[in-house]
Amino acid sequence: MTARAQIGVTGLAVMGRNLARNFARHGYTVAVHNRSYAKTQSLVEEAGHEGDFVPSESMADFVASLERPRKVVIMVKAGAATDAVIDELLPLLSEGDIVVDAGNAHFPDTIRREEALRARGLHFVGTGVSGGEEGALLGPSIMPGGTRESYESLGPILEAISAKVDGTPCCTYVGPNGAGHFVKMVHNGIEYADMQLIAEAYDLLKQGLGASAAEIGQIFAEWNSGDLESFLIEITADVLQHVDAETGSAFVDIVLDQAEQKGTGRWTVQNGLDLGVPITGIAEATFARALSGSVPQREAGRAALPAHTQSWDVGADDASRARFVEDVRLALYASKVVAYSQGFDQIAAASAENGWDIDRGAMARIWRGGCIIRARFLNRITEAYERDANLPLLLADEYFTNAVGNGLAAWRRVVAGAAQNGVPTPAFSSSLAYYDGVRAERLPAALIQAQRDFFGAHTYRRTDRDGTFHTQWSADRTEQEA
Ligand code: 6PG
Repeated sequence: MTARAQIGVTGLAVMGRNLARNFARHGYTVAVHNRSYAKTQSLVEEAGHEGDFVPSESMADFVASLERPRKVVIMVKAGAATDAVIDELLPLLSEGDIVVDAGNAHFPDTIRREEALRARGLHFVGTGVSGGEEGALLGPSIMPGGTRESYESLGPILEAISAKVDGTPCCTYVGPNGAGHFVKMVHNGIEYADMQLIAEAYDLLKQGLGASAAEIGQIFAEWNSGDLESFLIEITADVLQHVDAETGSAFVDIVLDQAEQKGTGRWTVQNGLDLGVPITGIAEATFARALSGSVPQREAGRAALPAHTQSWDVGADDASRARFVEDVRLALYASKVVAYSQGFDQIAAASAENGWDIDRGAMARIWRGGCIIRARFLNRITEAYERDANLPLLLADEYFTNAVGNGLAAWRRVVAGAAQNGVPTPAFSSSLAYYDGVRAERLPAALIQAQRDFFGAHTYRRTDRDGTFHTQWSADRTEQEA
């Protein structure tokens, strides 16, 4: 077996297969391998004309077909399958080889694997890849972690196959060990928030205007030519205008309203809790999926809980209806900025905790194309971090302060209207509450500290001098320095 392939892909389900084709289409000789050889053969049969593939039936031949230092991309289901492939690969690799895990791995697993492979003189690159099947083939957004040294030889290949925006690749070095998968995880958390916000906007338009799915689809199509321009808004317009062939109904009306997940949103929320970063938009979005799937609770709630709502009246004339649509658009944009602001806070906190030194502006840059949350406004985020790399709050960047400020009255009208009319808008509402919380001069957290000290002697700090104090609540209520 001549070692002539520049990169290898093992795991040829649709994502791996499309990544392999993408490498080949960019002129790389690609070693391909899959647990069952039939998939490898079908790839070569169907896509062989697209480039130079080197198929192997055994892992040993696959590894032997790679030029050194070898670059092996693993694209299998995250979890035990990844460990199994690594175990099979390890005895076949040599010092300096690079193992790339392109699945949606949980970042603590990536940290563990990187450490284990480093001890054997190998590079382990946990990389986020976003963009679904089509992205993998035509240009995904790629978020590689690992050593800088590994990026020197691997980076150019990944950049070549990534999406490009204005000629800039949507791929850059993210940071050591788990940083790449961490950033991909937060990407997915933001994806959940974005999707939930869009879903709430759709519900508001549906209930407020009494509009059909197709009509709302047209509104989203219009929104896609403004600040909200993004992949998710674009596909929403498309989905809402799609008609079910069997029933002739709007497609969205025949889909069961129980949202599922594979777990990356849940991981993001768990990590937000661990770090103490209030990623409320992502959390509400994740819990909204959980609520939608809480079938017995929903049945009981539907049967027993009164609404006591007013009937929704946004006004019958065209001007009032148009104003309502614009209000929802502004509220959606503002809530979306909050979700991103929170997600970027989470990246900053994890980066500090793990010593990753992640450049947030660069992350926004590589999310502009290829990935699921690709959007026009990511340029604005990059610019904000270029103005101040240590910006403590994205919302406080002048551009976003103005953009959200312009929509603030609308945002309040929409959230208040939703509450009065009984339309659940957990992400819209919690984002506004976050906005008001983070800008508040003083929060009722003071009372919480006092309560904690009362029942548990948990102590508090004072506004007027340094130190930690406890009040003797059950005795004479004098204060002591703790
Ligand atoms: C991407 C997506 C992808 C994710 C799916 C499904 O960036 O291409 O984030 O990685 O797995 O969107 O996610 P859920 O099943 O959890 O909704």
